[in-house]
Amino acid sequence: MHSAISSKDKEYIWHPFTSLVGSEPALPIIRAEGVYLYTEDERKILDGIASWWVNLHGHSHPKIAEAIYKQALTLEHIIFAGFTHKPATELAERLLAILPKNQKKVFYSDDGSTSCEVALKMALQYWYNQGIKKHKIIALEGAYHGDTFGAMSVGSRNPFNAPFQEKLFDVEFLPFPTCYQVGCCGGVRHSEKCVSVGQTIQKMEALAATGEIAAFIYEPLVQGAAGMRMYSVEILDKLLEIAKKHNILCIADEVMTGFGRTGKLFASEYCTHKPDMMCLSKGITGGFMALGATTCTEEVISVFRSPESSKTFYHGHSFTANPIACAAALASMDLLIHKDCIKAINQLEQSHIRFESKIAKHKAIKNVRSIGTILAIELKNNEESSYFNSIGKEVYQFFLEKDILLRPLGNIVYIMPPYVILEDELQRIYHAIEELLNQLV
Ligand SMILES: Cc1ncc(COP(=O)(O)O)c(C=O)c1O
Repeated sequence: MHSAISSKDKEYIWHPFTSLVGSEPALPIIRAEGVYLYTEDERKILDGIASWWVNLHGHSHPKIAEAIYKQALTLEHIIFAGFTHKPATELAERLLAILPKNQKKVFYSDDGSTSCEVALKMALQYWYNQGIKKHKIIALEGAYHGDTFGAMSVGSRNPFNAPFQEKLFDVEFLPFPTCYQVGCCGGVRHSEKCVSVGQTIQKMEALAATGEIAAFIYEPLVQGAAGMRMYSVEILDKLLEIAKKHNILCIADEVMTGFGRTGKLFASEYCTHKPDMMCLSKGITGGFMALGATTCTEEVISVFRSPESSKTFYHGHSFTANPIACAAALASMDLLIHKDCIKAINQLEQSHIRFESKIAKHKAIKNVRSIGTILAIELKNNEESSYFNSIGKEVYQFFLEKDILLRPLGNIVYIMPPYVILEDELQRIYHAIEELLNQLV
C-alpha cells in the first residue's frame, strides 16, 4: 500500500544519487530519535551511517533542537555582508579554539562542496593577489570533495562526473598511497614498503619542483566516498612536508573527518605539518542544519588585506553564516567536547578495533580497516572494488531487511554511526555483518 508521502514522493521528487528507473521507492520516515529512524509503518531502523556522515549526537537531540528553536525566535537570518551576529562570531571563536592553532579566520558557506569551493578560490586568489603565476592544483586519485564544479574538478574522474568532464579544470592527481594488495602494505597504516607509496611521493616531488602548483587538496587519512580508503599519517606528513618546502598551500578537506570521526577532533591533529586551510561541514551542526566553513591562516588572509578592490575575496551565499545553523553548531560543540562524548568516541574506536581483528581472516573479506569511529570492510567477489560493484545493492537490502541502515559503497560495507550508539546496538550491526559474511562464503 502506498502512503500519501510515498505517492507524492514518486510524483514530485528527484532524489540525490538515485536512478529514476528501477530504484526502490524512498522510505518515508516520520520521526527520528537517537540512533533510530521511524518509518510510517512503525519500523525502527538503526542508523549505522549517521545519515550520510552528518549526525554526531543522535537524531532530534533536545539540546540542539532547543538551541535552534530559541535562535529562530530571536534572529532567524540576516545578510552577512555588512552585518554580523553573535552565533557566527561565537562559533568562529570556538571553532578556531579547537582547530590547529595556525587557523585564524573562518569563512562561512552552505555545505561541504561550497566549503571546498571557497578554499580552492581562496588558494588561487592568494597567488593572483601577489601577481604570482601558480594555477595548478594537486589532489589524490579517488578524491571526493563535492558535486559543484570546482569540487568535482579536484575529485576523481569517474562515471559520476563523466557528463561534465569537458568542463572540469585540469588537476594533477597523485596515485593513492595505499595499494590494498595482499602481502604489501596490507591496506592500512604501515605502508612504507608499498610500491604505490613510493610513486605518490615521487610524483609529489616532481610536481612540486615545477613551481607551478598553487595548492594541494586532500581528505586527511581517509577518503570517504572512494570507499573509506585509509592511508598513513607518515605518508600524509611527508606529502605536506614536500608541499610546505615548495610553498604550496595545503587544504585539508575535513568535511567528513572533522568533529571526532577519526578519533581526534580533526584528522589533521595526527600530522606534524598543519594545513593552511581547512574545509568543514557535515558534523559541524551535529547533523541538524546545512553549514559549511573554510578556515585559513594569517599568511593566507594577509594577501587579501588590501585597499585595492581587485584583491577582495568576492564570494558569498544568501545563507552565509545562517544564525540558526550557527546556533545548532554551538550546541553540537558543547556536546562534542563534553567528556561523555570523548569517552563514547574512544569506546566506539575500541569496539571497532576488536571487531576488526575478530573478522580479519574471514574468507569473504578482502580487507578490513578502521580509524576512530569508522570501520570499513571490503568484500571479496569476482568484480573490482568500486562503487559500481554489483554486490552493493544486495548488501544494502540485506541490512535494511534487518532494520539496519548501512549504505555500502559498492563492495565496501562501512559503519560510521552517531557517537551515542550503545554497545549492544553496535553489536547488533556487527552480528548482522558476520551473518552476511558467512552467507557469502
Ligand atoms: C570529504 C568530503 N568533502 C566534501 C563533501 C561534499 O559535501 P556536501 O555533500 O555537503 O556538499 C563530502 C561529502 O560526502 C566529503 O565526504
